[in-house]
Amino acid sequence: MRAADIADDIQRVLFTDEQVQARVAELAARVDADYAERDVLLVGVLNGALMVMADLSRAMSRHCAMDWMAVSSYGSGTRSSGVVRFLKDLTVDIEGRHVLVVEDIIDTGLTLSYLVSNLRSRQPASLNILTMFRKPDAATTEVEVKYVGFDIPNEFVVGYGLDFAGHYRNLRDVVTLAPHVYS
Ligand code: IMP
Repeated sequence: MRAADIADDIQRVLFTDEQVQARVAELAARVDADYAERDVLLVGVLNGALMVMADLSRAMSRHCAMDWMAVSSYGSGTRSSGVVRFLKDLTVDIEGRHVLVVEDIIDTGLTLSYLVSNLRSRQPASLNILTMFRKPDAATTEVEVKYVGFDIPNEFVVGYGLDFAGHYRNLRDVVTLAPHVYS
């Protein structure tokens, strides 16, 4: 689905599919170079990281392993509930492995802090973070994020895996929604 298909729902297009794909290719090249000597395990954070995992891994020119975790911090609204719920654990043991966590978006950083402390306790050989989008407040988080697709304004965005009330994940472009969608 493209922004033009749902023009009535959209306030503003932040990034087109083409801009997102170009940025993913740049990140993939950096990941390839940084992990040239190491086997990387990509850990995707469901559900939002679905698209970035698929595109990043395929844009890479080296082998990678993949696994998934699911957490929930939002419910159906646009504000963090402050509570991170663990919904699905990894299927592999990450002890001694080089883990790259792949996130869709970091807002308050709450989800990421929770994930990182949980994963660190399993003693991976290394642990880095990649996020496609990051909001300003996330900059204050104590967790270092190695790869950032785009820093974005403090607005609720959808598309490219990001949803509002379960919708818009399959929108290729990244947009803000018109006020009537929330009412
Ligand atoms: P944090 O814990 O506040 O950093 O929120 C992280 C999670 O909240 C993300 O993985 C998303 O699932 C969700 N989230 C945060 N901001 C947005 C947004 O603008 N659109 C859609 N989901 C968001």
